[in-house]
Amino acid sequence: MTSPARQPAVWIALFEQSQTDSRSLRERTCSALRQAITAGQLAQGTRLPSTRTLAGDLGIARVTAEAAYAQLEAEGYIERRVGDGSYVRVDTTRFAGSRAQTVPHGMATSALSARGEAILRGGGCRDPLTPLAFAAGSPDLNAFPLELWNKLSSKRLRQNGAALLRYGDPQGYLPLRSALAAYLNQSRGLRCSAEQVLILTSSQQALQLIATLLLDQGDAVWIEEPGYNGAKTAFAAMGAQLLPVPVDADGMNPALAPAGSSPRLIYLTPSHQYPTGVPLSLPRRLALLDYAQQQQAWIVEDDYDSEFQYDGHPLPALQGIDRHGRVLYIGTFSKVLFPSLRLAYLVLPPGLAERFALARTVFDGHSAQLPQAITADFIEQGHFAAHLRHMRQLYRSRRDLLLETLRQQLPALQPLGGISGGLQLTVQLPPGEETRLTRAAAQAGVATPGLAGMYLSPARRDGWVLGYAALPNAEIVEGVRRLAAQFNTAQA
Ligand SMILES: Cc1ncc(COP(=O)(O)O)c(C=O)c1O
Repeated sequence: MTSPARQPAVWIALFEQSQTDSRSLRERTCSALRQAITAGQLAQGTRLPSTRTLAGDLGIARVTAEAAYAQLEAEGYIERRVGDGSYVRVDTTRFAGSRAQTVPHGMATSALSARGEAILRGGGCRDPLTPLAFAAGSPDLNAFPLELWNKLSSKRLRQNGAALLRYGDPQGYLPLRSALAAYLNQSRGLRCSAEQVLILTSSQQALQLIATLLLDQGDAVWIEEPGYNGAKTAFAAMGAQLLPVPVDADGMNPALAPAGSSPRLIYLTPSHQYPTGVPLSLPRRLALLDYAQQQQAWIVEDDYDSEFQYDGHPLPALQGIDRHGRVLYIGTFSKVLFPSLRLAYLVLPPGLAERFALARTVFDGHSAQLPQAITADFIEQGHFAAHLRHMRQLYRSRRDLLLETLRQQLPALQPLGGISGGLQLTVQLPPGEETRLTRAAAQAGVATPGLAGMYLSPARRDGWVLGYAALPNAEIVEGVRRLAAQFNTAQA
């Protein structure tokens, strides 16, 4: 047995570190000793100080020290011998690496699995937490009808609150699926029933589920070039081989796909290509559908912001003209309602919906019931359509303001591709200038998400994807003014 642990006691430091937390003194004492034991700083057999000494060291009452020892004994960390003392009971050498340096929050230092490494290789795909000028993709949440949402929520909880607290259908709350099917058929030209709709937390989850269930290691995936990095990370994480297919004024051009490549899946944003904003033309739609049928490939249609079309109407969804069940359609409430709602949907070809819903139970069970119920009411009672009308007007005026202010103050920055909708505008920069100008913009306090990083191949264009929808007019004008000042200095 080792002699009493009288070296400057590590648990004193650990105890002091927990000073600001709200736990009781007994719990903080237990926690400090537990940490010292599991980190290997107190080896098996080490004699612990008496309760009197411990109380003195930590500045706590003796009765508290006594209670802490009793608790640690009950948990099996220490052993108390009558007339002798207290000793560390567990052998921490069994925990590989427990003597190694302390790792923040006890995080394992061991390497991730090959899959884990593949998932992180793409750098993740986080969205900005606050919509500062000109972070891309954020809706204006100040214009959201919170009071109405609150009313719908209270009503739901009053009427059938207890039922909504239960586990829910993995495929999604049926009234929401029905409301969505009706909306999508009418407004987006889909042909689907509630049985084909799967409610998920996000487009990203839809992409991840698709990649997991439909792709094998090494499968080729055609990706729009430039294209949405969230999709690329989801497919690459599952071991897919990403093949960039250039986008021109008509959207993805299959004639420019890598020769001889036969994709298992084609990822498209046909209504409003991300990030160029061009719509996929009808001839291309038909050609890609035909090609997918011939190759028995899947088409993923990510319809992330088609509700925000300001000049004319968007083409109906590709899903609506697919006669062979090759299209998987993704929509999200992140832009049209609010991102923290965490509701999105996947419309699947008949036959796949049940299998996807079952697979989903392996990952996260189902989406939260109450938000689904409120969203269903919001749609059915006509609030969704009204909200969209309102937001479309607001965003259109902001887009106009951004275009006009750019035209006046930064005529060198030409929009690239489409400008008829969405929450952001992509502009071109002089070749090779993106990194330098982005740094200069950041120094002026303006975020300018880059375009070059959305290409897979080295033939990239420099540019910025300027999000404007969430910004009040004054911020748009001020943002452009700052950009213009930097740009003009940098170009001088
Ligand atoms: C093309 C595209 N798809 C999907 C999303 C995100 O949707 P969600 O928040 O539901 O993952 C975005 C966000 O900017 C996007 O640009």
